[in-house]
Amino acid sequence: MAPILSGKRIMLGISGGIAAYKSVTLASRLTQANAMVDVIMTHSAAKFVAPVTFQAITQRSVATDTFEFWHDAGRLRIGHVALAHAADLFVIAPATAHTIARLALGLSDDLLSITALSYKGPMLLAPAMETNMWTHPATMRNVEILQDWGVDFVGPAEGRLASGEVGEGRVAEPEEIFEEACKVIGRGGPLDGLRVVITAGGTREPIDPVRFVGNHSTGKMGAALARAARDLGAETVLVHAPLAVHPPGGITLVPVHTAQQMHTAVMEELSKTDVLIGAAAVADYRPTDSSDYKLKKSPQQQVISLERTPDILHEVGSQREKSGPGPKLVIGFAAETNDLEANAVAKLKGKNLDLVVLNDVSAPDSGFAVDTNRVTLFERGGNREAWPLMSKDEVAQAIMQRVVVRLGRLDWKRSMGNSQDNLPTD
Ligand code: C5P
Repeated sequence: MAPILSGKRIMLGISGGIAAYKSVTLASRLTQANAMVDVIMTHSAAKFVAPVTFQAITQRSVATDTFEFWHDAGRLRIGHVALAHAADLFVIAPATAHTIARLALGLSDDLLSITALSYKGPMLLAPAMETNMWTHPATMRNVEILQDWGVDFVGPAEGRLASGEVGEGRVAEPEEIFEEACKVIGRGGPLDGLRVVITAGGTREPIDPVRFVGNHSTGKMGAALARAARDLGAETVLVHAPLAVHPPGGITLVPVHTAQQMHTAVMEELSKTDVLIGAAAVADYRPTDSSDYKLKKSPQQQVISLERTPDILHEVGSQREKSGPGPKLVIGFAAETNDLEANAVAKLKGKNLDLVVLNDVSAPDSGFAVDTNRVTLFERGGNREAWPLMSKDEVAQAIMQRVVVRLGRLDWKRSMGNSQDNLPTD
């Protein structure tokens, strides 16, 4: 699901807050994504959750003590500092006020701070503390210092705190930290420096304040594309109508409802967009008059008159003919039920696109609500490729790989990352 993490080495630091229990889920998510997760816990973290829990989840040793030795290929060594040198990402979740302060001061008085101080790669902190501790000028200053050094933060969120009070300081949810970790690790990837804008979801055209004309789109394909673009290092924007799935983290979300709103949002983005992918199911028609009040039923037949909505991709395609900054690549989707190829080719030409992704939405494995898709690519220049049945995530990753190729970034060398080949494996 997140190939960006596959084979990556992640140091997961856990400091002493009740939110430490949520890091069990995070460790599990990272491990399931095939990352190699090495956990370091502070002594107070180990009072909240037993190290053996993380050991079982990650199937790797967990360290809490500076003078603890580490088994590495039959040798005993103080291995955590070496592991940190090898890590692709250092996550500290939860990061307490005290841990944040120690990092900002460069202290190294326990294993977590020693390891963090000796680490040079990307670092992601998920703060968790009482609201007053978070908003205290000392914490704010420490956060700023770390941000200036390039440390990333996720959260804290607002919500119920351990004290029972409600406020800012609640640790970000494990899924959000996971998503942010993918983004940070993907930074510097082949789409680095490029802005990818994706439309997703099915637009809703109001009939009255409680009813709309809509379609079956869930936004799964668009969300998967946004995740894949983010993981390749792109600055990613998802202009989305209501979604039936959680949008990915670490991207810019632009929520809209109607085709007109989606059109306005895309046009505002256009001059700064390098790649535009239209995966949204945009309504072609909207009610000519939408009532301000809920329509009441009556014995008479109701007729709703419809008018055309703007065709976003068509307009983008025709603007490309004119000079000026605009997307280097424009990709559309053709969700069809009949005359599949003819419709796809007509869209490629009629909307002046670089690539059309055709799928048969009447097929049970390629429709709206399912997790799989069977697509055929139609490229400008005549190339056609029928891809086998894949998950929507895999289709999205393959489409983004095609974007990488078309933009001539196949041999892109990652500018970040810390991986070395001769690493201890346990
Ligand atoms: O014209 P049709 O809806 O068949 O084309 C589908 C493609 O065009 C999709 O990529 C869709 O996101 C895009 N589209 C659009 N604006 C519309 C209708 C479709 O951008 N009004």
